Amino acid sequence: MRTAAEVSSERLRGGYYTPPALAHACLDRLAELHAGDGLGAVLEPSCGDGAFLRAIHEHPSHATSVRAVEVDPTEAAVAHASAAALPIPCDVTAGSALATLLDEPGCFDTVVGNPPYVRYQFLSDADRRDVDRVGELVGEPLRRVGNLWLPVLLVALHRLRRGGAFCVVLPAELLTGVSAAAVRRWLTREASDLRIDLFGVGSFPEVLQEVVLLSGRRVASTGPVSVTLVEHRDDRPASWTHEVTPDAANWTDLLLTGEERRAWLAAQSVEGVVALGELATFTVSTITGANAWFCVDDATIAAYGLEHWARPLLPRLRHVPGTVADHAVWDAFRAEGGAAWILDFSAGRDDPTAHCGARRYLATGVDQGIADRYKCRTRAPWYRVPIVEPGTLLMGKRSHHAPRVVHNAAGLVTTDTVYRGQLRDPSVDPHELVRAFGSDLTLLGCEVMGRSFGGGVLELVPSEIAAVPVATAAASSAPELLELAPALASARDRLRTRRLERG
Ligand SMILES: C[S@@+](CC[C@H](N)C(=O)[O-])C[C@H]1O[C@@H](n2cnc3c(N)ncnc32)[C@H](O)[C@@H]1O
Repeated sequence: MRTAAEVSSERLRGGYYTPPALAHACLDRLAELHAGDGLGAVLEPSCGDGAFLRAIHEHPSHATSVRAVEVDPTEAAVAHASAAALPIPCDVTAGSALATLLDEPGCFDTVVGNPPYVRYQFLSDADRRDVDRVGELVGEPLRRVGNLWLPVLLVALHRLRRGGAFCVVLPAELLTGVSAAAVRRWLTREASDLRIDLFGVGSFPEVLQEVVLLSGRRVASTGPVSVTLVEHRDDRPASWTHEVTPDAANWTDLLLTGEERRAWLAAQSVEGVVALGELATFTVSTITGANAWFCVDDATIAAYGLEHWARPLLPRLRHVPGTVADHAVWDAFRAEGGAAWILDFSAGRDDPTAHCGARRYLATGVDQGIADRYKCRTRAPWYRVPIVEPGTLLMGKRSHHAPRVVHNAAGLVTTDTVYRGQLRDPSVDPHELVRAFGSDLTLLGCEVMGRSFGGGVLELVPSEIAAVPVATAAASSAPELLELAPALASARDRLRTRRLERG
């Protein structure tokens, strides 16, 4: 992870501004939500150089006043100049939105903006303390929340009067992020007329990523809340509406159309469809702290005489072409010169320092600074990695096209890039789970439960894998499930295509 000193100041404050066309799209939506009554008193919690202030000036809907906050004093001064041109009272405060909005009680008719995308690690101590205070204020635990956009949005929404409207530009992690669950819960508790507009990459000339607009009205709602999704593609917006409940793990399945989401929900209640965690456990495997040094090929083993400490390793699932990691697969990988061994210097084995070849190899680790790396320097001795014994199944932590589970027939050790799987009932044939995992239902479950961090890569952590639905052998041919098959396949395809397109 990069430190603050290694990150540009623009990035540290999340200084990416909203293009005029997008700011106008937000105001159009707000005008619709206010149904012709004007925008009233507007709050812009992180105004940058004033993109939304200029848009308010140009837009036909009338605002009665604008209150803006911006942490960067230079940008706040530029925004102030835009504000001065407005024919209504407009106040720009240079300071953090958290402290400013926590400490003054104003109440607004409209919240608009594009909150700063700044990682928690880069926040000032004062902002960190205020994040906790925002959490208390809005009734959502925000301790060590992943990113600044969440508390800035929540503190701004908290200042919205009931009946007031909001429209904000947000990162797509609104739908999937673990920390963003605080915002999703707030919305299901306190908002109505919720709409999420999805603009694909390249929709706005200056914006290179996908854009998500969240809009709605603040109310006190009880019971299920509806969210309308509007996908803007090729000038032909498609839209659909789903109900959400506060306990939803994430909102990824809102991206499915009505029929697809109905199939996804119905499939999970078919008898014999269970959470994968009921059949098997997947856990993190060996963490070396320096895979490139601890995982070696035949040539390194021979050069340093490391045979005694070498154990067969599978570094990545992509080296397994089919569904079984057996000796033939491992031999082929080894013959290609792959790093097919992990060095196991555990206490029960010969002392490597008493062996001149192994001693030489350990010295390379010291020379390369491996011994000083975080994971290594906390061990004694630094090279004694606790090797996690192999399981009967393997699953990659990250995947591109689709996640896979394979049978670990050769008992290969893996590092933290490949999870170790164990069947809960060891008498079950591992191939049953391997086959069931490849179904559209389970692969759709992976797309819904997992997260994509860019590059089209899908990542699942063990708790997410455990929640993925899987059809037991008896259920896999149930007529109800077969009937849902086309909608499940199309749902899976939609989420995967979207993930790959987002890049
Ligand atoms: C994504 S930019 C958006 C700026 C403007 N709202 C727009 O749409 O063009 C986020 C802005 O938040 C500002 N910012 C960062 N941390 C802040 C904080 N704690 N309080 C208020 N503004 C902050 C940044 O300096 C940046 O100008």
